[in-house]
Amino acid sequence: MIPGFVDPHTHICFARRRESEFELRLAGTPYLEILKQGGGILSSVKAVAETDEESLYSYSRGHVLSAISHGTTTMEIKSGYGLDTENELKMLRVIRKLGRDLPLEIVPTFLGAHAVPGKFRKKPDDYIDLIIDEMLPLVTDNNLAEQCDIFCEKGVFSVEQSRRLLQAAQKFGMGIKIHADEVHDLGGGGLAADLGALSADHLLAVSDENIKKMSAAGTIATLLPGTAYSLKKPYARARAMIEANLPVALATDCNPGSSYTESMPFIIGLAIMNMDMSPAEALTAATLNSAYAIDRAGMAGSLDRGKRADFLLLDGQSPAILAYHGGVSPVEEVYISGEKVIR
Ligand code: NIG
Ligand code: FE
Repeated sequence: MIPGFVDPHTHICFARRRESEFELRLAGTPYLEILKQGGGILSSVKAVAETDEESLYSYSRGHVLSAISHGTTTMEIKSGYGLDTENELKMLRVIRKLGRDLPLEIVPTFLGAHAVPGKFRKKPDDYIDLIIDEMLPLVTDNNLAEQCDIFCEKGVFSVEQSRRLLQAAQKFGMGIKIHADEVHDLGGGGLAADLGALSADHLLAVSDENIKKMSAAGTIATLLPGTAYSLKKPYARARAMIEANLPVALATDCNPGSSYTESMPFIIGLAIMNMDMSPAEALTAATLNSAYAIDRAGMAGSLDRGKRADFLLLDGQSPAILAYHGGVSPVEEVYISGEKVIR
């Protein structure tokens, strides 16, 4: 018996898969090049705009149910395939409804700054203004998200734009997190430390200096090995982080582009086999540390007095089964709030 998995970073609310793009990437087209040509995240944006709220809900619900069957009992879900006020709010309403209808705990995150929409290609600062002046007030007034996130990356949003948005979000009382140093070492990890973010996520390219800074600031490093797997990139340096006393969390990053999986057992398997994490470290990263990364350590992440009774029964003698039984979920039974939800 282990605690239910806490998946602290997902984009599981989306309207269509991007299978043909996956094959393009396998044939050599880089991820950011596809985005530059108007595909990638922007193709998911088009799909969300073309999909009504009800269909977006039922497609997303299917993926969330699959995550539960793989042992996820608490999950963060980001918006970010809207990129205009109407569609960002539509996504956040769908995410809220999933949280109300399904037994697991869902933590909604506003990711209006996931990509620069076509209209703002030449003036990304104006898009940041629109987010701050129009979207943030609506999101917080309607209680649609707890945290604000941004994709800080070359060709997407700069460190300065990220700082401006995240400081504004903090003024609205939101928690903050950053897609940081995924492809290039821009310094997003350092910014997360400066601003007191809950987490910096990805960190495939983070510098040693910013690992130290995050460790001193108490930021969580949320690692997403499904992305390294799917983008065929070197994995994040989990050992260097753990040795620097930086708490590591694990998440699926479930999305139709860079990591199409809702399975925490798969992610834990990758962390153990490809990032040299021990089974005990990977289990802590996928439960207690990930609960801290989304501000849910008071209710989830460990089997403790006063927390919710979210737990799993595995078919195995130890959590090492999660890596040992490759590609197969050993999760036999899932309990949320003490109630059996699967099997
Ligand atoms: O976390 N890096 C940016 N965002 C997502 C990918 C979203 C997508 O490709 O649709 C990520 O990997
Ligand atoms: Fe992401």
